[in-house]
Amino acid sequence: MRVLVTGGAGYIGSHTLVELLGQAHEVCVLDNYDNSSPEVLNRVRQLSNGQLTDYVGDVRDGSMLDQVMAEFKPDVVIHFAGLKAVGDSMTNPLGYYDVNVRGTLQLLSAMDRHNVRRVIFSSSATVYGEPEYLPYDEAHPTNPTSVYGRTKLVAEQIITDWSRTHDDACAVLLRYFNPVGAHASARMGEHPDGVPNNLMPYIAQVAVGKREALQVFGDDYDTPDGTGLRDYIHVVDLARAHVAAVDYSKRQTGAQVFNVGTGQSYSVHDMVKAFRTASGQPIPCVIKPRRAGDIAAMQANAARANVEMGWKATHDLNDMARSTWDWQSKNPDGYDSAS
Ligand code: NAD
Ligand code: UFG
Repeated sequence: MRVLVTGGAGYIGSHTLVELLGQAHEVCVLDNYDNSSPEVLNRVRQLSNGQLTDYVGDVRDGSMLDQVMAEFKPDVVIHFAGLKAVGDSMTNPLGYYDVNVRGTLQLLSAMDRHNVRRVIFSSSATVYGEPEYLPYDEAHPTNPTSVYGRTKLVAEQIITDWSRTHDDACAVLLRYFNPVGAHASARMGEHPDGVPNNLMPYIAQVAVGKREALQVFGDDYDTPDGTGLRDYIHVVDLARAHVAAVDYSKRQTGAQVFNVGTGQSYSVHDMVKAFRTASGQPIPCVIKPRRAGDIAAMQANAARANVEMGWKATHDLNDMARSTWDWQSKNPDGYDSAS
């Protein structure tokens, strides 16, 4: 199939490109490189055979979208392009609504102009908010606690309403849990700009000597070791969920929501321990107060994705830690490292 990937140069997008090309899909990327580097696509091309075209442009730019859709003629769109930092979203709410919501509106309008009826959307487990029960299934109430989470929920609702306007439309709304890890080649991985907000890239930068110590945000939660529990998912498993969603969108209609996680959760201390083993580095930790807005525990019930899309995570915690370490140690400056 012909797959247009917005935000395809990003962390999850780039891994998805390799999996799509590996399944002989024809792929086109639209990215404005707001949070990525053009070097990413060089590496994707080195790792893959197959047809990959790319455009530099903004998903909010309707005429750019018209050009891409007229020239590439996608069968389906995977919509990754967006802003994702929870903290930034609280200080720049309008910027987040503009990219995440207006970007989605512009994309759907362009899809209508070009008769494209299938979309896969990057949503987040953060739309659930404080858990009423765990593991979250897709029927769990949604009550996001950050602006970022609200932009994702609004975008989900817009896409759902759009899907009702065409009998043949299919929208797959993927709610990701915590993506970590890197490609087995160590040629692609996560490259955060500045101080990492997320646990795994922070640990990796401590291990490689770029930062002194991990700050553990709270060890007094009601969890077995007092630190936060999350459902970490290997980015290659997450990428493969998109390939499964593309196939699923051929045989389904309507808006369909799926959790994409492993169904297992690990604490901050579990992650540090796994990383010490993978890297052989000491990884000093200091206990700090809880981070505002954090919840104690999150875990996916990912049964629906398994039953209906035939997708299941296959990488374990050691794969997550080992691949992150491989990527970080071989590319200490991410995509700015010599290639
Ligand atoms: P990322 O920042 O690495 O990738 C996003 C890509 O979109 C980047 O290449 C960026 O340059 C591009 N982009 C941003 N604004 C754009 C615009 N206006 N027009 C065109 N391109 C634009 O992020 P990621 O981790 O790969 O996340 C991809 C998607 O998944 C995002 O929508 C994010 O909100 C969502 N998500 C991520 C996580 C996570 O923890 N990484 C969890 C849940 C959901
Ligand atoms: N943590 C630390 N120290 C750090 C960073 C994180 O102790 O330096 C802890 C957090 O308190 C939390 C756990 O590690 O307990 C995971 O934190 P992350 O920041 O890695 O991930 P979050 O669960 O907070 O959020 C991430 C993304 C969101 C996304 C969500 C989906 O940042 O965008 O996963 O579950 F919505």
